[in-house]
Amino acid sequence: MKELLPARTQEYQARAREVTEKYVRPVAAELDRSGEYPWSVIQALREYNLMGIWIPEEYGGDGAGVLDMCVVVEEISRACGGMGVAYAVNALGSFPIVLGGTEEQKRRHLPAIAKGEKLIAFGLSEKASGSDAGSLRARAVHNVYGWIINGDKKWTTNANAASIYTVYASTNPERGTRGASAFIVEKGTPGFEIGRREQLMGIRCVPVHELHFRDCHVPQSALLGAKEGGGFANAMMTLDRARPGVAAQALGLAQGALEWAIRYTSERQQFGQSVMSFQAIQFMLSDMAIQIEAARQLVYTAARAIDAGISGVSKLAAMCKVFATDTAMRVTTDAVQLFGGYGYCQDYPIEKYMRDAKITQIYEGTNQIQRVVIGRALTREADQIAGHLSVKVEHFPKE
Ligand code: CAA
Repeated sequence: MKELLPARTQEYQARAREVTEKYVRPVAAELDRSGEYPWSVIQALREYNLMGIWIPEEYGGDGAGVLDMCVVVEEISRACGGMGVAYAVNALGSFPIVLGGTEEQKRRHLPAIAKGEKLIAFGLSEKASGSDAGSLRARAVHNVYGWIINGDKKWTTNANAASIYTVYASTNPERGTRGASAFIVEKGTPGFEIGRREQLMGIRCVPVHELHFRDCHVPQSALLGAKEGGGFANAMMTLDRARPGVAAQALGLAQGALEWAIRYTSERQQFGQSVMSFQAIQFMLSDMAIQIEAARQLVYTAARAIDAGISGVSKLAAMCKVFATDTAMRVTTDAVQLFGGYGYCQDYPIEKYMRDAKITQIYEGTNQIQRVVIGRALTREADQIAGHLSVKVEHFPKE
């Protein structure tokens, strides 16, 4: 129900919808096949002033919130999940600077990202460090000129399209997560190379690459926040703000798949009537719609909580990511089912939704890791709950 959104958010939504219908939908299938980057869509998003809207006004952005970013991602993903993440990953890459950059770093990098002149990517995961993000092996060593980074990154979305990278490396391995630091690395820095591109099941228009750092010298000014050791917390705070974006991508995919399923089942005739006129099909569509609306409310609530500066948003961000992405997987799978044999076939748009949805349960923290985050939050709440629930353990029925 768009009327419940703030007027400004509705305005972003309307603009994003126009870009989606004019520029995203017409090229979605073709770019899925070719794997080409959606530069025409990025250009349209620039022209509609939708790139980098989350960047504060003083650095050239709109000062928009996570909710605004989410509705834009949702709209784009209704037509293409790949283009949804091609946009959203700029938030993932730039939140570290917004949250932890020095004034000079913000002034140097954020205005170009806000205008969409430069894209930014996020380099945290490595071959052996995925869910256990604190075990990263990339190292940065200080010298008189600045820092020398050595190591490799994996799963960097938008990698070769971007020109700025937020890269996490340990500057003090003995300190574990407290020894991780973040660096802003620019494309073309000697010793930094974009490695092989992954061949993905879905989101195929988005390049996901390895990054390689071999004696890569960066100046002292590249150390995020001019502070060593704050990298892990910065990455975690960033993911808290970015995960609703993945949830919004999933939400858009689910909504888009439902719309196609309604269109197809209302037109497809079998046994002399539309497939949609069968109650069994209506019940499937109803369940899809119920789950999508529930996911939407959770995504918007998490985004609003972040925008309101409420503390402890990790749990809500993780919850909305789990719920919306699991919903997207179920809904897109059911949508393929509703298309029957045609759903399994690339002549129809629906199988792409299912392929695009799968990754949302995996990246920016698997849904198992989200449950770890939620579980830890519940564990912390245990004391508080014990304080207001007066029933003593011995009052519980015994066998
Ligand atoms: N905000 C601020 N600080 C936080 C935090 C948060 N949300 N979560 C943890 N921290 C801090 C802790 O307070 C702790 O600080 P102290 O040492 O000062 O006490 C420190 O970080 C370590 O915390 P934990 O002990 O909880 O860390 P952990 O090693 O147990 O890991 C985890 C926690 C939640 C499992 C984390 O490793 C995690 O989120 N893993 C998943 C990583 C992930 O999402 N990767 C995706 C990368 S992006 C991508 O997919 C590619 C792409 O381009 C789209």
